[in-house]
Amino acid sequence: MGDLDEVMAIERLSFSHPWLETTFQGEIQNDGISFPLVAVHRVEKRIVGYILYWKIRDDVQINNIAVHPDFRRFGMGEAMLRDVLLRTKCEGAVFVSLEVRVSNTAARALYEKFGFKPLAVRKNYYTHPDEDALVLSLDLKE
Ligand SMILES: CC(C)(COP(=O)(O)OP(=O)(O)OC[C@H]1O[C@@H](n2cnc3c(N)ncnc32)[C@H](O)[C@@H]1OP(=O)(O)O)[C@@H](O)C(=O)NCCC(=O)NCCS
Repeated sequence: MGDLDEVMAIERLSFSHPWLETTFQGEIQNDGISFPLVAVHRVEKRIVGYILYWKIRDDVQINNIAVHPDFRRFGMGEAMLRDVLLRTKCEGAVFVSLEVRVSNTAARALYEKFGFKPLAVRKNYYTHPDEDALVLSLDLKE
């Protein structure tokens, strides 16, 4: 909860339709299912990114990931995603999925680098602007 101000600042800089603070609060309280992690810059001692996922038995959903615009393209997104994939695989997860805007080339390239594959399209899933979501998945058994 103490990290929320910094996380909300990054969230607002990163998305046209940001999550509300109450959404993050609900996630933090959803103990055992929702796992919110922050990445802290060792020198500047500030939060530069976060990733939030759900783990239900062997199934993982990445529900949010963002890096502060000033710290993008330094490998932070990749490091956070790798951390979650490794940690959940060690805990027995076998399937990971997420949704991404069709136009989000940066995020799509990140997921592609890890081997995520298209699973489905959710028509008009996003607003501000209206856009389809691509559902991507990764089989951790492969
Ligand atoms: C997507 C996001 C988290 C990536 O974070 P990042 O720390 O900048 O990414 P990294 O530096 O770890 O890049 C890892 C890989 O992602 C891809 N990538 C990241 N940014 C990219 C860009 N702007 N254009 C193309 N590919 C990009 C590349 O494949 C890159 O690998 P490379 O460095 O070997 O080329 C970041 O752009 C972000 O916060 N975007 C806004 C929020 C968002 O869209 N979240 C995803 C919602 S589904």
